[in-house]
Amino acid sequence: MQNIPVITVDGPSGAGKGTLCLKLSSTLRWHLLDSGAIYRVLALAALHHDIPLDDVNALVPLASGLDVSFESVNGTTKIVLEGEDVTFDIRNENVGAVASTIAAIPPVREALLRRQRSFAMSPGLVADGRDMGTVVFDNADLKFYLTASAEVRAERRFIELKEKGHDVKISRLLTDIKARDDRDINRSNAPLKAADDAIIIDSSTLDAVQVFDIAMKEVLDRRLV
Ligand code: DC
Repeated sequence: MQNIPVITVDGPSGAGKGTLCLKLSSTLRWHLLDSGAIYRVLALAALHHDIPLDDVNALVPLASGLDVSFESVNGTTKIVLEGEDVTFDIRNENVGAVASTIAAIPPVREALLRRQRSFAMSPGLVADGRDMGTVVFDNADLKFYLTASAEVRAERRFIELKEKGHDVKISRLLTDIKARDDRDINRSNAPLKAADDAIIIDSSTLDAVQVFDIAMKEVLDRRLV
């Protein structure tokens, strides 16, 4: 892991991390880790298997043995859980809320560490999440913390989910986003926070291209490519 260059992008739900990471990884031709997707897949597996969300003894083995694969299909990622395509299902708001609940359990996070680190492969990795720069890749070469106001994030999420065909209400999304922020920021283990050496980008008044340009300038300044 030491010699593989890693860029981490952490931040709250809906700040634009996914868009930035996808653009960075495709421009640099580096691997991409969507760590939130791993927590979401685990959440879906727990729901499928009727595992109570506080049953640590059942959640930990489920996390360590999670039968998930990320397959590249025409520039997009297909996510397969136990043989079933769950790419669409894991984006559901309820699955996000369950993911955030079980992500607060320290042994569950521990059980997913090695899997996340295994994504660091040549020529480099762009890692998207909440604790990429603080815990999983604390030695990363370049760390970003991407944020935006809760209102802007709810509006973006609304547009994104509508486009994907989900039936959602913006007021509900705002409430959910605030609840999720609260859980992610206030958990005791690997809480959502900027790493001390992270570059903070507030995307409230920036579009995706502007955010990418800021990030890419940092990549080039550091001669990572
Ligand atoms: O990024 P996302 O919305 O897909 O993530 C879903 C949840 O998973 C998020 O609310 C908290 C959890 N998560 C986490 O705890 N650590 C990560 N590195 C990524 C996600």
